[in-house]
Amino acid sequence: MRKDILEYLLNHKGEYVSGQKISEELGISRTAVWKHIRVLKSRGYVIESYTKRGYCLMEAPELLLPELVGEGLQTKVFGKKIHYKEKVDSTNNVAKKLAEEGAEEGTIVLAEEQSGGRGRLERSFLSPFAQGVWFSLILRPTFLPMEVSKMTLLAAVALTKALHKMGLVECGIKWPNDILVKDRKVVGILTELNASMERINYLVMGIGINTSLTKKELPKDLRKTVTSFTIENVPVHRQALLQEVLLQLERYYEIAETEGFKPILAEWKVLSMMMGKEVEVSEPGRSFTGKAVDLDDSGNLIVETEAGRETVLAGDVRVR
Ligand code: BTN
Repeated sequence: MRKDILEYLLNHKGEYVSGQKISEELGISRTAVWKHIRVLKSRGYVIESYTKRGYCLMEAPELLLPELVGEGLQTKVFGKKIHYKEKVDSTNNVAKKLAEEGAEEGTIVLAEEQSGGRGRLERSFLSPFAQGVWFSLILRPTFLPMEVSKMTLLAAVALTKALHKMGLVECGIKWPNDILVKDRKVVGILTELNASMERINYLVMGIGINTSLTKKELPKDLRKTVTSFTIENVPVHRQALLQEVLLQLERYYEIAETEGFKPILAEWKVLSMMMGKEVEVSEPGRSFTGKAVDLDDSGNLIVETEAGRETVLAGDVRVR
């Protein structure tokens, strides 16, 4: 029904239409009209309302409609097939289901909002309507399952390059794959795998980029750890951003498939904001501090501690 109200307002954009008229034409109560309009406003639609005149749609948010994303997309495969939804629990969940059903490599699942966005280490990921780019990419790489942790580093390199191109020049990578501006996360990446011992069946790379979240909209506990293009005062167009991200991801993926991960790990080190810094490592069952000094050939972080060099395979690493 909300869709019908929206369509009605879009057809009368810039004109006032009374709640009574909408309710009669669409066959719903005036209270229901009012409730749906309240939701539309919370989603970025600018709707003016005056008691005697009714409602007037002034501005509609720019949505990531597949036709718009496809227009001018320069990739060969990535994003050529788009499953678009206004709201899902998690694009990774939808993508995994599609991958099980045989969806092709390069297919993306794109949503304006996620009600159950997920992050690494079982954390939740805030993904409000049209305030970020939330999507998952289905891949079917030919390399061995043991190489997969390097895909996450590949994603971080591609994303950082894309964000630099879009003007967010201060961002860098936090191991393994968060992208931060100073100490605040602007991009999160969650890679999920379906594989046997010998081969990868599919990989879902879930990416969340905060675009227009404002400090005020962030829950208090996230204000010190999360940022967005808007908070950093960098204007961004979500459609152009997504196109650039897909292009960079495809470019680095081709490098990995043809030349291997070596050149990508080298770029990761340059784009990292951790190298040479004092860090605190929390792994299941232990935590320690030291200096982040290198990445090994498998993409693990090497930390120099008083007791010697430690290899970090998983867990959480924070710059002190
Ligand atoms: C993290 O910060 O630990 C990773 C966050 C990954 C979020 C993205 S948003 C699109 C995709 N769907 C999800 O549920 N998660 C990823």
